[in-house]
Amino acid sequence: MTDSSSYPTAPQSSFVWLDGLPDPVLVIDRAGRVARANRRAQDLLGSGLPGRPLALVLRDPKAVEAVNAVLAGQPAQSATLAWTTPVERVFDLHVAATADPAAPTILVLQDVTRIRQAERMRADFVANVSHELRSPLAAIIGIIETLSDSARDDAEAREHFLAIMQREADRMRRLIGDLLSLSRIEVDEHVPPRGRVDLAALARQCTELLAPRAAEQGMRLALDIAAGLADIPGDADQLTQLVQNLIDNAIKYGESGTAIAVRLAAGPDPSQITLSVANAGEGIPPQDLPRLTERFYRVDKARSRNLGGTGLGLAIVKHIVNRHRGRLEIASTLGQGTTVTVHLPLS
Ligand SMILES: Nc1ncnc2c1ncn2[C@@H]1O[C@H](COP(=O)(O)OP(=O)(O)O)[C@@H](O)[C@H]1O
Ligand SMILES: [Mg+2]
Repeated sequence: MTDSSSYPTAPQSSFVWLDGLPDPVLVIDRAGRVARANRRAQDLLGSGLPGRPLALVLRDPKAVEAVNAVLAGQPAQSATLAWTTPVERVFDLHVAATADPAAPTILVLQDVTRIRQAERMRADFVANVSHELRSPLAAIIGIIETLSDSARDDAEAREHFLAIMQREADRMRRLIGDLLSLSRIEVDEHVPPRGRVDLAALARQCTELLAPRAAEQGMRLALDIAAGLADIPGDADQLTQLVQNLIDNAIKYGESGTAIAVRLAAGPDPSQITLSVANAGEGIPPQDLPRLTERFYRVDKARSRNLGGTGLGLAIVKHIVNRHRGRLEIASTLGQGTTVTVHLPLS
């Protein structure tokens, strides 16, 4: 076995408790070989670790350097290990001395991949928000300069520029509104909704509200609601927002002259109710589908902006679905159209 077997004072059983720890732990002997690996370490690095040199187990010179430093009598060491294969993972590595002569160093790997990803997402989010607010603001500032200068006495130009200012200010207002919705929904995402909602009535209201917008785009909303559907546990405001966002997208990205089908039915699972919104149109490339619910992700940025989109609609929908413990599916066929389906639990 390992060197530790030649030290009768350090039976393997003295490290049995390591298996209960949630992080991968390796005990390293004086020769820099693994003396003991807990269960988590074996899950991560494979079995048969005892006896193998650390340099072959963790192929990162930082790990070996840290262990060597501790073996040489230096205080506890820390480092960050970043793996890129098979998937990206980041670990904080901690190495400390033990009082055990047979196993003088202990190495703990703490998986911080999720924390790092969250940090990156937060930074990206702030950058995205700033960027999205900056362009309408720059347009408005530019117009104010023009109006107070060359266009001062030109009534026609003034009308034109005021209209643009209105449009850009509306864009900022929509963006801020969506950001506020998103943060409110995120705050109580883990609190189940308290109310009960008649989704059929809600879908009818939303359809009525949005029918004029659809008509402007040469589209028709076709409502198909199964009879006798039960109420579901839900937050009426949030579910209204969900239905509106889906119909809004169907109007925005659907093809003029076609109908948008809004369907509500029981099933397919007996404990569920299913809402779907389908539109004909050019569809969504398959590689974009998994990313549509990311904040600010759009297939075609310029097109979404021109249509007044913020890129937050489906992110809001996803969080509302999560809060209602439902499931969201987006299916699309290029050249044909898109169907967004939401399954919601009846209890
Ligand atoms: N029904 C649809 N048909 C085609 N593309 C869609 C549809 N719904 C959403 N998308 C795509 O998903 C992107 C994200 O949607 P969303 O989050 O609602 O943002 P926005 O509509 O403000 O751009 C849209 O920009 C568009 O590219
Ligand atoms: Mg949208």
